Amino acid sequence: MENKQSIGIFDSGFGGLTVFKSIIKELPQYNYIYFGDNARAPYGDHSYETIYQYTLECVEWLFAKGCPLVILACNTASAKALRSIQQQVLPFKYPNHRVLGVIRPTAEIVGDFTATKSIGIMGTRGTINSKSYLMEINKFFPEIEVAQQSCPMWVPLIENNEHEQAGADYFVKKYVDQLLVQNNRIDCIVLACTHYPLLVPKIKALLPSGIKLLAQDDMVAGSLKQYLLNHPEIEGAISDEGQTKFFTSGDHVIFDASASIFFGEEVISEHVNLRA
Ligand code: DGL
Repeated sequence: MENKQSIGIFDSGFGGLTVFKSIIKELPQYNYIYFGDNARAPYGDHSYETIYQYTLECVEWLFAKGCPLVILACNTASAKALRSIQQQVLPFKYPNHRVLGVIRPTAEIVGDFTATKSIGIMGTRGTINSKSYLMEINKFFPEIEVAQQSCPMWVPLIENNEHEQAGADYFVKKYVDQLLVQNNRIDCIVLACTHYPLLVPKIKALLPSGIKLLAQDDMVAGSLKQYLLNHPEIEGAISDEGQTKFFTSGDHVIFDASASIFFGEEVISEHVNLRA
């Protein structure tokens, strides 16, 4: 374990960098380690067992690098692995470590954005099929109707840098239409996938006025800030030199080239062999 303690940020690949960017903006003082499991991404269509196993391996790697707190910036991992890690692993193996996801911070405040009490959730197949958003939103806002839409083509379009091309329009419209037809009172749509902020201009252009589009980055950053205020025992353990390190299980040259698109500035990463 390294002496300097950091906040770990985990994603299946690049997408968590959109969330990480907001976290650093809100909380620039801390040390961070970002880990993208690019070698095994995308996670969106994998089984529960696979996503759980991959996520746990990455979380344990971040623990070993000196992260007492890990944020699962990935919706699919938050939906499929978080609860099992929190309930079946941490109390027995890592009682002083914490792992948080992105679904609860979103569910806690989504009710503030809808007047019609009808919202839409767009995510990967894994996230949507898990029904995690339905369950979490129902806990905080039982009166809200939630329509869900999986968008399996969106991550591949973005990962292949095709999302700004005219060819992407067909699949953007297809899933937006499939969501809106489910409930004509929807006035708020949550982009429940790390990649989707890159499609905001195309999605916005299709939405009738009056429908708000919510990305999670700011919600997660605000929630982390509050968590650290409420948990001085964790906050006190994190070094505050403002250092940031990036690691990928994939090819670091490819990671660095694409990561800058998601992060908005140059990224220099190191390759990690999880099996070593
Ligand atoms: N990071 C994933 C999410 O937020 C999207 C990419 C993937 O499927 O791995 O759901």
